[in-house]
Amino acid sequence: MAAKNGAIKLVAGNSNPKLAEAIGAYLASPLTKAVVRRFADMEVFVEIQENVRGSDVFVVQSTSFPTNDHLMELLIIIDALRRSSASRITAVIPYFGYARQDRKPGPRTPISAKLVANLITTAGADRVMTLDLHAGQIQGFFDIPTDNLYASPLMVRDIKEKFDVGTVTVVSPDVGGVARARGLAKRINAPLAIVDKRRERAGESEVMNVIGDVQGRACILVDDIVDSGGTLVNAAEALLAQDATAVYAYITHGVLSGGAVARITASKLKELVITDSIQPTEAVRVAKNIRVLSIATLIGEAIGRTASEESVSSLFD
Ligand code: R5P
Repeated sequence: MAAKNGAIKLVAGNSNPKLAEAIGAYLASPLTKAVVRRFADMEVFVEIQENVRGSDVFVVQSTSFPTNDHLMELLIIIDALRRSSASRITAVIPYFGYARQDRKPGPRTPISAKLVANLITTAGADRVMTLDLHAGQIQGFFDIPTDNLYASPLMVRDIKEKFDVGTVTVVSPDVGGVARARGLAKRINAPLAIVDKRRERAGESEVMNVIGDVQGRACILVDDIVDSGGTLVNAAEALLAQDATAVYAYITHGVLSGGAVARITASKLKELVITDSIQPTEAVRVAKNIRVLSIATLIGEAIGRTASEESVSSLFD
């Protein structure tokens, strides 16, 4: 890209070095030499091995599994940069862990997303850049500028390449995700359906009701996170039971904990498409029905624009 990156420095933690390298390649800005390692007792130690005085520094680190270790690395890298006189520090967090704890689900419970936002700010971040936050209002948990990017342009491009969009119905796998799914449906001019998961009586198993007509349609489930894969696999079954021709899923963050990859591989889901906001494991890479789209260009472009004080939102017009 054009020379927007004169003073940009990119620093990577250990969560997603491949993505950080790809962002660096896009910006023609190699990663700043840094050591992020552990002492024998697993305390995190960071040493920035290049001068960053006066630099506009972007720290690329997802707070993905092991979440607490990666969060701690992020905080300590930011502290090291602040004490090294970087002029501005942007925490680039492609996957923001703890986002699902964004309200009190019951008495005497924490709002961990707010606590994590406070920690990042206190460590010394001047800005935050993230992707498909679980809830957009988490931006308000930060009192520093926060850009929430969207993977949807990438997904829309891929869907238009792979599908005859006239045959597609976009589906939200739960009621909470309707706004996200509706946004994507609008961009490809497709109808919307919703899987409504309900437990009629305590002790009875959940019933999946499909709202909308999916008979004879290729269904694309859209969500922000696939974790255990339970939501996805159950929704796929409910759609096929209503005579959908095939079920696919486009989900930004492949958390894929525990046996999720095996569950998805064994499921009736034709294909799950995720991004590399979380570095794909070997199991993900070899899974026959999981494909990964890279967000490196999107994040690289947003970093370049931030550095040169250009509009980031216009990336999504
Ligand atoms: C929930 O609100 C999220 O949008 C996802 O639907 C959820 O995190 C998926 O979790 P799992 O894959 O464990 O069902």
